[in-house]
Amino acid sequence: MESVVNNSIKVDSLEELAGQIRSLVAGRSVFVLTDSNIQEKWIDNLIALDPGWGDAEILEVEPGEDSKSIEVCSHLWSHLLDCNADRKALLINIGGGMITDLGGFVASTYKRGISFVHIPTSLLGMVDAANGGKTGVNHFHTKNSIGTFQLPEQVLLFAGFLETLEHRELKSGFAEMLKHGLIKDAQHWNDLSLLPEITPKNISPLILQSVGIKEAVVKNDFYESGERKLLNVGHTVGHAIEAVALGILCETHIALQLRILAERDYKEITEVIKKFFPPSDYSIPPFEEVSHYLLNDKKNAAGKLLFSLPTAIGHATYNFEVTIPQILSSYNAVFAK
Ligand code: GLY
Repeated sequence: MESVVNNSIKVDSLEELAGQIRSLVAGRSVFVLTDSNIQEKWIDNLIALDPGWGDAEILEVEPGEDSKSIEVCSHLWSHLLDCNADRKALLINIGGGMITDLGGFVASTYKRGISFVHIPTSLLGMVDAANGGKTGVNHFHTKNSIGTFQLPEQVLLFAGFLETLEHRELKSGFAEMLKHGLIKDAQHWNDLSLLPEITPKNISPLILQSVGIKEAVVKNDFYESGERKLLNVGHTVGHAIEAVALGILCETHIALQLRILAERDYKEITEVIKKFFPPSDYSIPPFEEVSHYLLNDKKNAAGKLLFSLPTAIGHATYNFEVTIPQILSSYNAVFAK
C-alpha cells in the first residue's frame, strides 16, 4: 500500500521500502550515503531484504552536524570520482536532516548534478528537511549558508524508523507538523492538537498530510521569494533559542501584540503548544543572546527585521516588519518566570 503526494511516497514496511528502492535503482550505478548510527540500525536489515542495489558503494560519514561541511563534501566528491560515478549515477541518502541536506548538496553539484533519492529516518527529515529541494552545508559557523535548490527524484517515507528515535527528536519534528497546520490547514492543526501525546503510533497517520502541506507551499514558490517564507513561522525566535515550538509561542504573542491575530486564536495556539512543549522544560536564554541572532537573521532585508507570523489558525503572513522592542516585550511576556 502506498500513498503519493508529489514526489513523496509512504511505505508501510521495510520490505515495501526495499521494493521501492529496487524499482528506482534498476540499471543504474548506485551510491548510498548514510551515517554510522543508521548504518548500524538499518542498513544491514535493508541489505538483507535485497533492495537491488547489488554491490553499491556505501559512503559513511560521522553522525552529527559537523559532517555538514565542505571538507566532508570534498571527501565525498573525491570518492565518487574514484569510483567513476558518471552523470547517470544515483545517490540514495538514508538518514536524518544532516544526511539529506549533505547528500542533496553533494549530488546536486557533482558533475553539475546527478539524481538523488532521500530516505529520511527522523521525523524532522520526513516532514521538513527531505522535502522541498533545499540542500546545503554549514560554513564558518553559519548554518546552511552554502547550498542549492534541487528536488530529489523521490522521497521514501517509512514511519517505522520513528520507533528508534528519542522522544526529543520526535518532538522537534512534531513542532514542524504543528507549524504546517498553523500556517495553512486548520484541520491538520486540530488533528494534531487532539493527540493525547507525541508517539510514533499517534503521529504516523498524519505525516503525509503534513508533507502535503509543505509540498503545496513549495510548489507555489520553490525559490522562496514569497509564500515559502510562511514555513519560517516560529523559526526566527525558535532558532535563536533552539526550540521551534517555543519560537511559535513567542511569535504568536508578537502577532497578538501587532493586532494581526485574534485573542481567541492566540489562546488556542498557546494552549496547544504548552500542552506538548511546556516552556518550563526548556532553559530560555537571556534576550541579549537572542537579539544578536535576530539581527543577523537571513530573512532580514534593508536593515529591517522581517517575520512570518500567524494571522489565524490555518493562516499566516510573511515579510512583516517587527522591531526589537516589540520582540523583547513578547519574549518577556511569554517566558517570564
Ligand atoms: N525548511 C523550510 C523550507 O524548506 O523552506
